[in-house]
Amino acid sequence: MTDAKPPQPLASRLPRVVDWDSNQRRVVILDQTRLPNEVVFLHCDSVADVWQAIKRLSVRGAPAIGVAAAYGVCLATREEPSVGRCYEAIDRLATSRPTAVNLFWALQRMRDAVDRATAAGEPLLASLIEEARSIHHQDRELCAAIGRYGADRLLDLPPAADTAGLTLLTHCNAGALATAGNGTALSPIYELAGRGVAVRVFADETRPLLQGSRLTAWELQQMNIPVTVLTDSMAGSLIRSGKIDAVIVGADRISAAGDAANKIGTYPLAVLARYHQIPFFVAAPHSTFDLSLANGDDIPIEHRDSDELSQGFTESTVPGGCSVYNPAFDVTPAELITAIITDLGVIDNPDAEKVLNSIGTR
Ligand code: MRU
Repeated sequence: MTDAKPPQPLASRLPRVVDWDSNQRRVVILDQTRLPNEVVFLHCDSVADVWQAIKRLSVRGAPAIGVAAAYGVCLATREEPSVGRCYEAIDRLATSRPTAVNLFWALQRMRDAVDRATAAGEPLLASLIEEARSIHHQDRELCAAIGRYGADRLLDLPPAADTAGLTLLTHCNAGALATAGNGTALSPIYELAGRGVAVRVFADETRPLLQGSRLTAWELQQMNIPVTVLTDSMAGSLIRSGKIDAVIVGADRISAAGDAANKIGTYPLAVLARYHQIPFFVAAPHSTFDLSLANGDDIPIEHRDSDELSQGFTESTVPGGCSVYNPAFDVTPAELITAIITDLGVIDNPDAEKVLNSIGTR
């Protein structure tokens, strides 16, 4: 853990996803529900505001949720500077979303910070802000490390199908908008671009909430990376056409066996990649691993409101009264994953032993 000056590889072309406003003592969150049409910030003055921002996906993406929640705990001391109120805030924020383990990882760090400050008789707010900032800065470093390892791994691929460079397919948004740094799945892409390698991205639209078309396409445009959007159902024929060199996605939670939960629609991409014999990469920091879960079947999958699917385009697209299946995530078994790219290195052909060796001591 370090508070050292973080690496700043991302141009200021992208707004900060989450930050602590030390003058107003509040959390500032980029409202991603308004992208790509408007860049609007939410000012959160209470734990309830942060809870709401996470729940409604104003801030989303596993690492960014963790950072937002960490700052959210600081707001508890504004309401009442007591240990009890901090614990309450931690418990409340833990109910905002169930799948991304980074949320619980960050909240555990904040709980430890509360306990340390209390034992040492230090002021709560200052200690909590310091810990939240440390989580925030660390995430930037983790993203940068994933970028370096991922870029090296992608350069090892056999010569690209598109001779002009690499063409990658991604799903949802696992970029800067989902983290405090350059992202996970998109970080190797920025790293490659920085090294002068031509990279082109196809971004799945990502039904039902369109994180791919609204967020990934917008983010990549700001960063001058060529991007093409397709609906999720078009991925099969695109891969079959031979235009995609590899699929790269993020993760919300990875089990001890290396099974990875990510945005719904990820698993079919892994099946497609295997069938068409192209690599399928998962990029995630060590904070996304949950070694307490033996395999992916135990990962809690969030089910979201049916309106997100049936009213997603303002007018109803489903007949009234019809039931809706709306899981937000699916699990890709380790056997379909070519490699997991982490901040600690690359886990090729992941299994329980390799995950334990790589992540187990963290
Ligand atoms: O529902 P979301 O938008 O929070 O889902 C985000 C994803 O599935 C991302 O791929 C994942 O959190 C990794 S973010 C680096």
